[in-house]
Amino acid sequence: MTIGSMPGSSGYLNLYPERKISYFSNPYVLGLTVTAGIGGLLFGYDTGVISGALLYIEDDFEAVKESSFLQETIVSMALVGAMIGAASGGWINDSYGRKKATLLADVVFAVGAVVMAAAPDPYVLIVGRLLVGLGVGVASVTAPVYIAEASPSEIRGGLVSTNVLMITGGQFLSYLINLAFTEVPGTWRWMLGVSGVPAVIQFSLMLFLPESPRWLFIKDDKTKAIAVLSKIYSPDRLEDEIDSLSAASEEECRRKNNVRYRDVFKSKEIRLALLAGAGLQAFQQFTGINTVMYYSPTIVQMAGFSSNQQALLLSMIVAAVNAAGTIVGIYLIDHVGRKKLALASLSGVLASLAILSGAFFAESSDSTNGVYGWLAIIGLALYIACFSPGMGPVPWTVNSEIYPEAYRGICGGMSATVNWISNLIVAQTFLSIADAVGTGATFLILACVAVLAIVFVGIFVPETKGLTFEEVEKIWKERAWGSSEGKESTEGLLEDEA
Ligand code: BGC
Repeated sequence: MTIGSMPGSSGYLNLYPERKISYFSNPYVLGLTVTAGIGGLLFGYDTGVISGALLYIEDDFEAVKESSFLQETIVSMALVGAMIGAASGGWINDSYGRKKATLLADVVFAVGAVVMAAAPDPYVLIVGRLLVGLGVGVASVTAPVYIAEASPSEIRGGLVSTNVLMITGGQFLSYLINLAFTEVPGTWRWMLGVSGVPAVIQFSLMLFLPESPRWLFIKDDKTKAIAVLSKIYSPDRLEDEIDSLSAASEEECRRKNNVRYRDVFKSKEIRLALLAGAGLQAFQQFTGINTVMYYSPTIVQMAGFSSNQQALLLSMIVAAVNAAGTIVGIYLIDHVGRKKLALASLSGVLASLAILSGAFFAESSDSTNGVYGWLAIIGLALYIACFSPGMGPVPWTVNSEIYPEAYRGICGGMSATVNWISNLIVAQTFLSIADAVGTGATFLILACVAVLAIVFVGIFVPETKGLTFEEVEKIWKERAWGSSEGKESTEGLLEDEA
């Protein structure tokens, strides 16, 4: 069955609009999404909790208090682990499946949490952070792909973005827990150790959930795949879904069965898709989300609020707005589309960075005027409100849906690795850049990156809203060869192999 499709609108569903499924109408898919999203929760919690925990770790270990190198290593070792986890997680996903990858991430994460909670010295703690990071890295690739592959195309964006809601929710939760455990003996051990609990919960729930139907299908376990699909689709649509999956998997079989990392760069279509996906991930980080979140206490201090408690409260407000904005994103991503949402979000981010930059420049020349502090707070609020519905969820969603089945894990993993590397670069250089050129100029640099990001998205990112995976593949063929029939299959995909 060949049905024409328009950018951002599935030909199939235009023909049969009555077969559309809404976000809340299928409890099975929603339950699967929330269970897989516990990976996102671990991601958010783990990245959020460490700043608070570090204050108490310093109290317990003199060596940490005296060495900023140890402090930085404790913080960044999880990012290093996440990079390695994301890079290898893609391959694990494609070779062993999404379910096993999730279970593995949970085990590594839970062991890491116990190691951290019981650490007798900072070095064991660092090993625990590395393990937890590995788990987060594997989960950051697996959860979006697993959710996307079980999702009906018309709500895929919202469901994958639900995982991002779990990330932002996890960050919010980590601030709450930081607050809750301040008076408890062994503070930081609780803060870090408690994160093993969701990992154990996810492990137990995953045992009852199936492997991804699309992965099963391509691995020739068609009966199991159809059994899963029948829980998602009505009988009419089920038949058509199976037909298009069969056609797609025949083509996959004509390609390589076991894709290796270097295969990714041999095909023009995959190169274009990876450029779009990895570029989005890099721009998500280089437009400064994590520095803006990190800088929020300083911005509030500029406005004249200086107590620690106020700073903590503000971090919580920022995290709450971030999570609330993600909920808006869940709605918009399947209604407005990925590309428009990213462009609108980036325009708002650009305006907010310009305000922040202006406020810091003005404050450095006239620090007595309280207006600039307030201007900075407005810039901060606007930044989070604009980032969270768009540039938060769009990169993760787009990466879960733009690669052909055989490459979905590997390419998603490579892109997620780009995200983690960019995150680390920004985290490691932000303070030194701000020291060298000033905070106003630093935000100006981020604003310039936002301009580049707008141009990049405009040129390289196609609209994939509502499209089936097969329809998305056609887009890359058209972009690579001028027509979707172009150089089909093996010839087109592995052009240099012959
Ligand atoms: C990003 C994280 C970030 C979070 C903030 C996610 O989409 O990948 O790096 O901390 O959004 O909400």
